[in-house]
Formats: sequence, C-alpha cells, structure tokens
Amino acid sequence: MVGLSQKDVLRADQFSREEIALIAKTARRYEEAVARGKVLRDLRGKILCTLFFEPSTRTRLSFEAAMLRLGGQVVSVAEPKSSSAAKGESLHDTIRTVEGYADVIVLRHPEIGAADKAARSTNRPVINAGDGAGQHPTQSLLDVYTIQKEKGKVDGLTVALVGDLKNGRTVHSLSQVLSLFDVRLILVSPPALRMPREIVEALKGRRVVEETPDLLKAVREADVVYMTRIQRERFADPTEYERLKDSYILTQEALREGKGRVTVMHPLPRVNEIETSVDQDSGAAYFRQAANGIPVRMALLALVTGAI
Ligand code: NCD
Repeated sequence: MVGLSQKDVLRADQFSREEIALIAKTARRYEEAVARGKVLRDLRGKILCTLFFEPSTRTRLSFEAAMLRLGGQVVSVAEPKSSSAAKGESLHDTIRTVEGYADVIVLRHPEIGAADKAARSTNRPVINAGDGAGQHPTQSLLDVYTIQKEKGKVDGLTVALVGDLKNGRTVHSLSQVLSLFDVRLILVSPPALRMPREIVEALKGRRVVEETPDLLKAVREADVVYMTRIQRERFADPTEYERLKDSYILTQEALREGKGRVTVMHPLPRVNEIETSVDQDSGAAYFRQAANGIPVRMALLALVTGAI
C-alpha cells in the first residue's frame, strides 16, 4: 500500500518510486490550485512546528508558506539561541514538549541522525529538514520534481552532481532518490570531497555511477548539472576550506560545451559556484527549483498528517 499518513520523513532512501509518484502527483495538483488562486483548507485546524537549529532561508520559509497555503498554522523556532536548547535542554525533551503543541514537526539540526532521534521521541510525524552532513530528503523530492518539470522525464537522463559531495546532505539524498530511476550519475568532486563510500557502493548496486574531478567533462555529457556549495561549516580546518572553496565555478563558456540545453540546478545558497551571468540562460533552473519547494512541501504536509 502506498501511503504516507503519520509517517516520518527521515532519509531519501526510505521512499519507493510509487511514493515519489504520489508526492509528485499531489504537488502538481497543489501547484495548479495555487496558480489558479484557489484558497485551500486541507490543513485547517492543524499546526506545524518548525524547529531550526541551523541557518535556513528556503527550507523553513517554504515549509511555513506551504502550511499557510493549506490553511494550517505555524509555530516556529528559527533562532537556536532563542530556544531552551540554549539552556541545555535535550532534543528529546524539546520534542516531547513540542508534540503537545503541534501536529507535525519539521526539524533542522547540526547533528547527523538528529531527526531519527527526534522521531523516536514522539508519535507525531517528524520531517527531517537537514541533519548536519547527513540527509535532506525533502530537498531531493523537490529536486526530482524539478527535473521532471524541466526535462519532461527523469528516466534516461545523465545527471552530474558537483561540489562538496562529502559534506553536502542534498546530494546524499538526491543520489539515492535518483537511483530509483533509470539515470546515469556522474559524481564530480575534488578527491578530498568525494561522496561517502557507503552511499556510492549502494548506488553502484543499482545504477551506472562514475566519479571524476573534471567538471567540463561532466558538463559535456550531462542533461542536468546540479551544483553545490563547499560546506564551510563542516570543515574542522579553515585552511582546507580556503584551499577547496572555489574548486568549481560554472561559467557560461563551460555551459556552451554542453549538448543542447543543459538544466542547471543548485539547492542554494550559492556562494561562488555559478557565475551570475548564467542566470540568464534558459536552462538555469535554480530559482524555479526553489519555488517548487512550495507545492512539494504542501504535498508532504498533507500526506503525512493524513489530511488527504
Ligand atoms: C541546502 C542545505 O541546507 O543543505 N540548502 C537548502 O536547504 N536549500 C544546501 C546548502 O546549504 O548548501
């Protein structure tokens, strides 16, 4: 049975292709309804709590806007220093408290595995909005939704994931979701920032996966180029960050080497990875990608709360 009611969303590899199709179908319906100016009430009377212990713009705002678009309401901790975690409260106690206030919890936390821990503390659905250098499953759902919209399909494509594949949670999750499709993956990173071995091994069991440090080679072969930021906050040694920070910068000239219209994606925030002149390119999809966060997160909230 395909269904997400009362389920947690913790990791990208928890999803089946059927569940991804259900989320996409629901998101498409919501996207059209919002575009028509329809006022929705599917989550009327429900409360979402967003608990963000790491910085965020898009993820928190789009979850909150998604909840409001569905007629629900939001309570939020956006500034970790303003919550009792700053007084030494455990995550377990915070979650036990918040379950008394809200029907669904969206958590971003600097520790890998924090969302799993939170999910064990409550029966309310917990959605992982990023656990340190671990996972970012809802981003990968909106990423695959974006690829489908931009390219009209996912199967048969070559997708290059570029940048800090070691620490970037978006690419950990996206590679797992894409491995459900007939996709060829090119993993582009400096040797020091390669994708964790256990993820690569699991991917290789399913799909063709190549690893290379060569961005230009990947651009020439890819239908989709997914750029990511070098994750400064995950580096113990600042000089190592300085050495690697500008490893890849996508320019218009590089993009012209691609076959036809290459779709360029980025979870954002961008630091230096894509020249701003690329924004004019019709394949530059990153701001459309960010906007897709609304319908996809509306779908997730409605499905996990069992409202539809
Ligand atoms: C990403 C994240 O937080 O992991 N941002 C996002 O949610 N769109 C990417 C990043 O911070 O580099």
